[in-house]
Amino acid sequence: MDKIVSLSKRRGFVFQSSEIYGGLNGCWDYGPLGVELLRNIKDQWWQAMTYREDIEGIDASILMHPRVWEASGHVANFTDPMVDCKQCKHRFRPELVPRVIQCTNCNKYRVKIIPEVNDALLNAISMYGVDDVIKAFAADEMYCPNPNCEKQTDFKIIETICPDCGTKNSFSPPRKFNLMFKTFVGPVEDEGSVVYLRPETAQGIYVNFLNVQAASRQKLPFGIAQIGKAFRNEINTKNFLFRTREFEQMEMQFFVKPGSDVEWFNYWKEERMKWFVNLGLPREKIQFHQHEPDKLAHYAKDAFDVEYQFPFGWGEIEGIHNRTDYDLSKHEEFSGKSMKYFDEETKERFTPYIIETSAGASRSFMAFLVDAYREEDAPTADGKAEMRVVLKLHPRLAPIKVAVFPLVNRDGMPEIARKIEALVRPHFRVFYDDSGAVGRRYRRQDEAGTPYCVTVDSQTLQDNTVTVRDRDTMQQERIVIDEIVRYTAGKLAQ
Ligand code: GAP
Repeated sequence: MDKIVSLSKRRGFVFQSSEIYGGLNGCWDYGPLGVELLRNIKDQWWQAMTYREDIEGIDASILMHPRVWEASGHVANFTDPMVDCKQCKHRFRPELVPRVIQCTNCNKYRVKIIPEVNDALLNAISMYGVDDVIKAFAADEMYCPNPNCEKQTDFKIIETICPDCGTKNSFSPPRKFNLMFKTFVGPVEDEGSVVYLRPETAQGIYVNFLNVQAASRQKLPFGIAQIGKAFRNEINTKNFLFRTREFEQMEMQFFVKPGSDVEWFNYWKEERMKWFVNLGLPREKIQFHQHEPDKLAHYAKDAFDVEYQFPFGWGEIEGIHNRTDYDLSKHEEFSGKSMKYFDEETKERFTPYIIETSAGASRSFMAFLVDAYREEDAPTADGKAEMRVVLKLHPRLAPIKVAVFPLVNRDGMPEIARKIEALVRPHFRVFYDDSGAVGRRYRRQDEAGTPYCVTVDSQTLQDNTVTVRDRDTMQQERIVIDEIVRYTAGKLAQ
């Protein structure tokens, strides 16, 4: 991951937010290449969804009536239990608090430390014989370290330790902490003017369900798609773009007749998997993870995560949920307005079920970026091998599609190269580069993920052809200048 973070900064994919002020935890800025990659991911998603006849798009506002979040269950249920250290005031999930446990049988100690050890913590537990007892073990794995002990699971908690300041037994009882960001509308900051930054874009779709249906004259089953920012006051932001406080979602809510929901749920599961694979994620590095019944979100009857194998382990990039009629029923109850659909054919009035596909744009960005990153041997001009960093992004996702180089800055080559740049620019993102050896220019484009590099050389002066170098194979072929746009378009369509 460190290499990805460093490349991201160096090449302008992602910067730390407000870096000159020390950064703001859980927030990131997309640079010139990053914003193109992110936009391409969103465009691909938007096309896959809204170019179908049964899906419409919308763009709802981020701030919504506060009752929306009461109806949706987020005010009551979108919480994490947290404990506060009374000494340093830092807040933690209870299961991440280190604790010393002692076996009631053989009196051996064990220290539960998740996930990191710092000096304050080491100091706090030194009296227990650090070498002997420190073990990082999973949250629910608590057993005696003594293999000869008969009562392996009979232990008591001796003390808890703050993982930041090392203070012992300093925690408040667990309290529910709502993950929604609160703000105020208007000039008065009181309870009556509280609004929330939306933690998911989905609710903007539900409250507009009948507006969209009436305006577009869609019949069930049909979907509404939306891309937009979502905000969560995550306690533990981590792993670069994986868990952030501000992120973008690409959500589609598919409204179906009750009874057909399982069939549509299975359909969308497969469709979403195909989307990731078609854009280059290897099938063996993506998996479905079904939620256990007791881990389901408050609105879901069934849920699968699409997970990608990140360097730090499997992580969810999209959730596919059968939300039943929960959301529309709740909005009907809280607003007093009917959210029912009238079926013209059967003359029935009912509340549709909703199948949701909810992808993180930023998490997908990270998965595509991580997956594309390669370090390979590449030949130099004098026949030796050097390491090249290359982003093997799917050409449709690549920030820059074509780079144009004059081999040398003389003999009319720059003028021809500039003409080619002007020819390509109306169609694709193009980058002109005339500085340094051509091999270094290729390397720079490899790092940016540019799939095609067009070079004007001495043969161009004679027959109007150029070389086109393929980023992945490093093979070059000659084509006539007038064919460049058609050639690139053909490759991108594959
Ligand atoms: N509307 C349903 C919903 O929001 P979710 O599983 O909580 O479901 C959907 O989130 C997707 O949003 C996740 O699969 C992930 O890609 C993205 N996501 C959620 N929280 C995130 C965070 N803190 N940072 C980045 N992406 C996040």
